[in-house]
Amino acid sequence: MTQNNTVTVTDNRTGKAYDFPILDGTTGPSVVDIRKFYAETGMFTYDPGYTSTGSCESAVTYIDGDQGVLLHRGYPIQDLAQNCTFLEVSYLLLNGELPNREQFQTFENAITMHTMVHEQIHKFLEGFRRDAHPMAVMCGVVGGMAAFYHDSIDITNPHHRMIASHRLIAKIPTIGAWAYKYSVGQPLTYPRNDLRYASDLLQMMFAVPCEEYKVNPVLAKAMDRILILHADHEQNASTSTVRLTGSSGANPFACIAAGIASLWGPAHGGANEAVLNMLTEIGSVDRVNECVKRAKDKDDPFRLMGFGHRVYKNYDPRAKIMAQTCHEVLEELGVKDPLLDVAMELEKIALEDDYFIEKKLYPNVDFYSGIIFRAMGIPTSMFTAIFAIARTTGWVAQWNEMITDPAQKIGRPRQLFTGSTQREFVPFDKR
Ligand code: SDX
Repeated sequence: MTQNNTVTVTDNRTGKAYDFPILDGTTGPSVVDIRKFYAETGMFTYDPGYTSTGSCESAVTYIDGDQGVLLHRGYPIQDLAQNCTFLEVSYLLLNGELPNREQFQTFENAITMHTMVHEQIHKFLEGFRRDAHPMAVMCGVVGGMAAFYHDSIDITNPHHRMIASHRLIAKIPTIGAWAYKYSVGQPLTYPRNDLRYASDLLQMMFAVPCEEYKVNPVLAKAMDRILILHADHEQNASTSTVRLTGSSGANPFACIAAGIASLWGPAHGGANEAVLNMLTEIGSVDRVNECVKRAKDKDDPFRLMGFGHRVYKNYDPRAKIMAQTCHEVLEELGVKDPLLDVAMELEKIALEDDYFIEKKLYPNVDFYSGIIFRAMGIPTSMFTAIFAIARTTGWVAQWNEMITDPAQKIGRPRQLFTGSTQREFVPFDKR
């Protein structure tokens, strides 16, 4: 980060001018350092939704929303999705460099050896109703993991942080798969050390004791690629939640549980589930126009789920790879899903419509993922759970970066107060 120039803010009520440094990163927009803004001007800045606010310095993920560019530690998502496994990308996000063979083997072994969860966690699950949403289960169980490891989490100790990071990345697929098994009333499965990450996730979700489970290599490859596409995405709502939670010194399990809770929202990670519900509600290609009309109607709360993005004002590069994966998986499985036809017609009409063009609304990562999951036999309620499994690696990488950032302090925003000023108390008999 370099500092060469300043911006000047003039308060025209007093004519007083204030200079604030401009900080330049390696690429992307520079920032105005306003850490002294309140001390110097007596005012707060105001940015609900943080549309123009940089919350931290980071070297993990870079997004250029206008160009539709996504880099993880400098590598384009297209190259990573094409050439890496999810655990290679996890190593890259955590350590800043792609691993050589020896580094990768050591990392993959460490993750594999942490995939089992404490047997007591069976009891956690039994406390939920069978129809509990998997995200509610994951949020509760991951938060509860602090009860098993809290006494060995000295977050100022790099070795403790590494162990906690490996435990979270390793155990989250087991917890996600258990949430699914519990919801369908099937026996909980155990991880298998002879299977790689994505294959093991499929095995834990779909294996039953009555027969040997054979992993379909096409589905395993598709799942691994989908995990890569969801691994990290700069300072989105759930990552910012993890960072804010971690800024108080909370343990990493509590931080990831907070991230899962934030991701669940339909405007964020819950959108993939909402896309499938929307496509099902539309039902057929001939009803697409009516749906696009509703999405443009200001008085209608209906939105095209899977469309639009706070940062991308171009095609989400992940959506392009997801669409290609969608066609590959459906072809491999010989599945003809009418909802794919609806999705493709919806995309075609929306991308030619002035409303979407002028507001720069394009398909995002959630638009096609649900169709792939459905073809793989994954229920809608598990879509966001799989997003959470993938994003845990990004949350852990960002949490580590925050903990080791010398500039980090407890996050404590202020406000513009528009409530009652001080007034006399009114006793009951005078109200
Ligand atoms: C993810 O931040 C990340 O990086 C998130 C994510 C990640 O990997 O972590 O990429 C994952 O969350 C993807 C987004 C998934 N959400 C959805 O698909 C839900 C549908 N999309 C919208 O809710 C919306 O686009 C957001 C929430 C994604 C972004 O909202 P913004 O940036 O706050 O923009 P906005 O809501 O102010 O919309 C700008 C305009 C508005 O119109 P005006 O008020 O300016 O007239 O565009 C309109 C909106 O009404 N608009 C839409 C729309 N999205 C925005 N109109 C119809 N359909 C939509 N989907």
